[in-house]
Amino acid sequence: MSLFAQRAAEAADLVTVALDELLPRADGPESRLTEAMRYAALGPGKRLRPFFALETGRMFDLEDRPVLRAACALECIHAYSLIHDDLPSMDDDDMRRGRLTVHKAYDEATAILAGDSLQAAAFEILAHPDTHKDGGVRAEMIFKLAQASGARGMCGGQMIDLIGVHDDLGAVARMQRLKTGALIAAAFELPLIIARPKDGERHALLAFAQDLGLAYQIVDDLLDAEGDEATLGKKAGKDAARGKTNYVTLLGAEAARTRLELLVEQTKAHLEPFGAAAEFLRDSVDFVLERRS
Ligand code: IPE
Ligand code: IPE
Ligand code: MG
Ligand code: MG
Ligand code: MG
Repeated sequence: MSLFAQRAAEAADLVTVALDELLPRADGPESRLTEAMRYAALGPGKRLRPFFALETGRMFDLEDRPVLRAACALECIHAYSLIHDDLPSMDDDDMRRGRLTVHKAYDEATAILAGDSLQAAAFEILAHPDTHKDGGVRAEMIFKLAQASGARGMCGGQMIDLIGVHDDLGAVARMQRLKTGALIAAAFELPLIIARPKDGERHALLAFAQDLGLAYQIVDDLLDAEGDEATLGKKAGKDAARGKTNYVTLLGAEAARTRLELLVEQTKAHLEPFGAAAEFLRDSVDFVLERRS
């Protein structure tokens, strides 16, 4: 296993253990809800957003606990977004991460509530004094994550995705930046709130995060068009079947790949000011590019 893969796997384990401790358990009839939350959040995901947060924390020598808690909050929002994304009224998917989606494993109402509760859990984790001793820092993190998740972030992007954009690459790019890019960018922004780097470094890292988020979704769309369900752990070919508009359905896979290659160069270039300290983030661009699931 490469050093990169090893560090990514370590980060994933760390976050899964921390989430397991942070997520509620219940005995009463509401245990159905907490089980569904756990099913979604502790399932076999890549934990990529948490990994980005932890690597950013490492780059700036931040204390472990605040960054780990922020990483857990990000993963809660991500897990909630996937539960709702799979609902019959949205993408109507039965499989996720090689298992039944939450509304299939439980039922639709439970899936809606599990998503709602994971969203609430994210903010509960960030607001807790254990996340940072300075309430101002906690408030800023809550503000950032709320922005990235809501109408001007992930949910806004999901709305555009459902309505559809037509023949307009600019609009597609905007949709992708909102629905996927905003939360990926937040994985970098939350640790930066603690690190308070110089403006130049902050801008470079945020530009990196924005481009990485867009690249991430283009790869997802290519995998949807070209991957297979056994490897993906989710159904393939669904974007074209549902008439979704993205770079791949609009331009074709070849042209989308060419754009992706240009974007990847641009993404890596943003890391130049950080030199060797950003080696793992540089590798993560290749990881995103080469992922098959
Ligand atoms: C899938 O996200 C949905 C998108 C935003 C493209 P991931 O590819 O990060 O999914 P998991 O968490 O590893 O399952
Ligand atoms: C989902 O995008 C993005 C989210 C905000 C959850 P997709 O709908 O393409 O994600 P998959 O392909 O179902 O994982
Ligand atoms: Mg979707
Ligand atoms: Mg989907
Ligand atoms: Mg997809």
